Amino acid sequence: MNSQSISFIGGGNMAQSLITGLVEAGHDAGHLTASDPIAAQRKAIGGLGATAVEDNQHAITGANVVVLAVKPQVLGAVLKKLAFEPDQLIISICAGVPIASIAGWTSEEQPIVRCMPNIPALLRAGITALHANPQTDPKQREIAEQVLAAVGQTIWVDAEATLDAVTAISGSGPAYFFYLMEAMVRAGEALGLEPEVASQLTIETAYGAARMARETSTSPATLRVNVTSPGGTTERALKVLDEYHTDQHIVDAIKQAAQRAHELAIEFGQS
Ligand SMILES: NC(=O)c1ccc[n+]([C@@H]2O[C@H](COP(=O)([O-])OP(=O)(O)OC[C@H]3O[C@@H](n4cnc5c(N)ncnc54)[C@H](OP(=O)(O)O)[C@@H]3O)[C@@H](O)[C@H]2O)c1
Repeated sequence: MNSQSISFIGGGNMAQSLITGLVEAGHDAGHLTASDPIAAQRKAIGGLGATAVEDNQHAITGANVVVLAVKPQVLGAVLKKLAFEPDQLIISICAGVPIASIAGWTSEEQPIVRCMPNIPALLRAGITALHANPQTDPKQREIAEQVLAAVGQTIWVDAEATLDAVTAISGSGPAYFFYLMEAMVRAGEALGLEPEVASQLTIETAYGAARMARETSTSPATLRVNVTSPGGTTERALKVLDEYHTDQHIVDAIKQAAQRAHELAIEFGQS
């Protein structure tokens, strides 16, 4: 894997995070290239030890792996101008763009892995779901997994349509937690805490709760029951949330996010 030559089309936030993660994981920076029209982005790429170029075709020529890291809206226009080699593995991190569209803009025979990372990838604490087309061989799947593992955990999904649900859970998910955190900070302030105190208490609580859910084999439901003493403070708060059917509202909201992901896949796929 470390000897694979990997080129990124689009050298923005995600490409820079992936390059940083790959270099930290021991990948030879001399085998990493990114193309971007903006000089400042190319400078940042160069600062990470990778090669930065302006021309996309120049970037991908001779690469084993090409990572598509431009905004989804411009992907079709970018790909239509490029000539790929038949055995080049394409890894797309462009949210919502279907494999069929990418194959249509490149080649029906192209090995393509479509991924859905999330924003904590910028801190290399993300989770990425991956789906490969049948043209992708096991070695290429392994490479795709290792590339995305540079920015967090990875998980494969069998059906491409599942990526709409993934988008609704982990793609949009950080915003749901930020929303809850905002409300908790507001509540803390309403109860007389200084804003910084309310914020620190909330953030560290979110972090600690996530670590407990992650590092124990106990389910979130059991963890919740374990911290809810009968007649206590937590029980009183959860009773209000139940009365408002908050859990059902969250389920409904996430279903809407999945529906929007489905609509965007149709829009981006036709661009
Ligand atoms: N950020 C996330 O957490 C996240 C999560 C999931 C998926 N993704 C996906 O990752 C992709 C990249 O996101 P990002 O946050 O890294 O975006 P970004 O920071 O805007 O990076 C994209 C880069 O591509 C450049 N670019 C535009 N047109 C180009 C072209 N024709 N050739 C080469 N480069 C070009 C952009 O330049 P300009 O600024 O001039 O356009 C920009 O520097 C998106 O498709 C997004 O859906 C991101």
